[in-house]
Amino acid sequence: MINEIIVQTVGRQTKFLKKGENMKLLRLFFIIQFVLIPVAVFSAEKAKTIDELAKMYDVSSCKQCHSKIYEEWANSYHAISLVGSPRTLATIASTVRDGILKEWTKSGAKSVKDIKVEHMMTCAKCHLPQLKDATDAVAQEIAQAALDGSAGDSSAVEKLKKVGINCLICHNQKSLIHKWTDGEPEPDVIYGNKEGVHADAKFKKLKKSPILKESILCGQCHGTGPNFDLKEPTQCATLYGSYLNAYVPSGGSKTCQECHMDKGHLMPGYRDPDQAKKAVSVEVKTKGYYFLPKAGDSIPTAKVNVKLVNNAGHRIPDG
Ligand code: HEC
Ligand code: HEC
Ligand code: HEC
Ligand code: HEC
Ligand code: HEC
Repeated sequence: MINEIIVQTVGRQTKFLKKGENMKLLRLFFIIQFVLIPVAVFSAEKAKTIDELAKMYDVSSCKQCHSKIYEEWANSYHAISLVGSPRTLATIASTVRDGILKEWTKSGAKSVKDIKVEHMMTCAKCHLPQLKDATDAVAQEIAQAALDGSAGDSSAVEKLKKVGINCLICHNQKSLIHKWTDGEPEPDVIYGNKEGVHADAKFKKLKKSPILKESILCGQCHGTGPNFDLKEPTQCATLYGSYLNAYVPSGGSKTCQECHMDKGHLMPGYRDPDQAKKAVSVEVKTKGYYFLPKAGDSIPTAKVNVKLVNNAGHRIPDG
């Protein structure tokens, strides 16, 4: 069995030698050993500002050819995932002010300039996963903008709206789950339902994502319970946990996509009246009668049975 191979290049000749074999040659010739270093897939350069991060994850080109999908997405909460209803913005601000800088006394951060990516990942893990490609300066810029925005500074809110869960998060970063089976997402590939060439100038290839139609695509962020992987575990969305542990075991067979993509990439929750209407069905049965405790003293009584059925694929509300 060959345990180690030495690649020897002499002039134009390349020889593969078993270790220990032909050691004399090693002394005779000038040897170049080639070592294959895996080339980093994504550029090591990290974003230093929110604008740079927005540019790194720019999806404006997609609008040209997928205009309807782009519009739907642009009106979704995914597109403004640091701002939300805007309860998200206010809660991120209080996480910074009352959590990281105050109550979490061992966080190592006393003021905004001490804040690191790791601190903001408490929320960005799901609200802005691309923060992993940014420097601490961006974490500080986001923290400051959340504080300013929640205090009424509209330009800070606009700044936070530049980044969000966009096409590249679902069609690249989160498209592959089993990295030892499928590898890391490639930088020039859009993951969809098929393989082939793609007309985009930067994302020139289409590959099939094994999970695009599966609930687990969404489950990566829609939560199973406390986030134990964080140094300060927090819990936000837990809806995927309820989907897995309650809906599926009781016979539910629909995916998130089947229930949430009627309006395409808008993917609405209860703020959309049509979606909210589907949530609960109400069945009421009544029976009226007279209760007679003693002769001549009847009390009109009614029995009302109300059956509420949750038709969503999970507990509602979430959070
Ligand atoms: C990268 C993480 C991530 C992925 C992947 C993801 N979501 Fe979300 N989703 C979020 C976050 C964060 C919010 C909340 C944004 C806010 O309001 O601040 C959200 C909000 C929502 C909402 C509420 C929208 C509303 O209008 O109230 C729905 C519904 C939803 N997502 C469905 C889905 C479905 C379906 C999928 C899979 C096809 C999916 N999400 C994939 C993170 C994600
Ligand atoms: C496990 C992923 C995950 C983490 C971590 C996470 N969130 Fe969320 N968050 C979501 C998803 C998904 C939604 C939207 C769906 C829902 O409400 O069920 C959401 C919704 C919210 C909402 C309600 C949005 C609205 O507009 O009504 C707030 C507020 C919020 N998150 C704040 C935070 C803050 C602050 C942090 C950090 C301390 C955080 N989240 C961490 C996934 C997460
Ligand atoms: C929250 C995750 C998510 C985001 C964000 C997202 N997509 Fe998708 N997209 C999906 C899923 C899931 C499907 C597959 C639906 C199916 O096949 O059932 C899909 C399907 C598609 C398709 C094929 C659908 C068709 O009708 O042929 C295109 C094209 C597409 N997305 C483009 C985009 C573009 C462009 C953006 C950004 C503007 C975007 N997507 C953002 C999850 C997402
Ligand atoms: C110049 C036009 C053009 C641009 C720009 C473009 N696309 Fe596409 N895209 C297409 C066409 C055409 C198809 C269908 C290819 C096919 O059916 O073989 C497609 C297919 C897709 C699919 C679906 C693949 C499938 O399996 O059904 C996704 C997802 C997608 N594009 C996302 C994006 C995203 C995200 C961007 C921006 C980064 C983008 N596209 C930019 C033209 C474009
Ligand atoms: C059987 C259909 C169905 C399935 C499956 C389903 N949903 Fe829902 N979902 C609904 C309905 C209906 C609502 C509206 C409920 C309401 O009015 O609060 C909803 C609401 C939501 C909300 C908003 C809840 C809140 O309180 O903030 C989110 C987020 C969401 N779904 C995400 C998902 C994700 C992620 C999956 C897959 C893990 C999924 N849904 C699977 C039907 C479904």
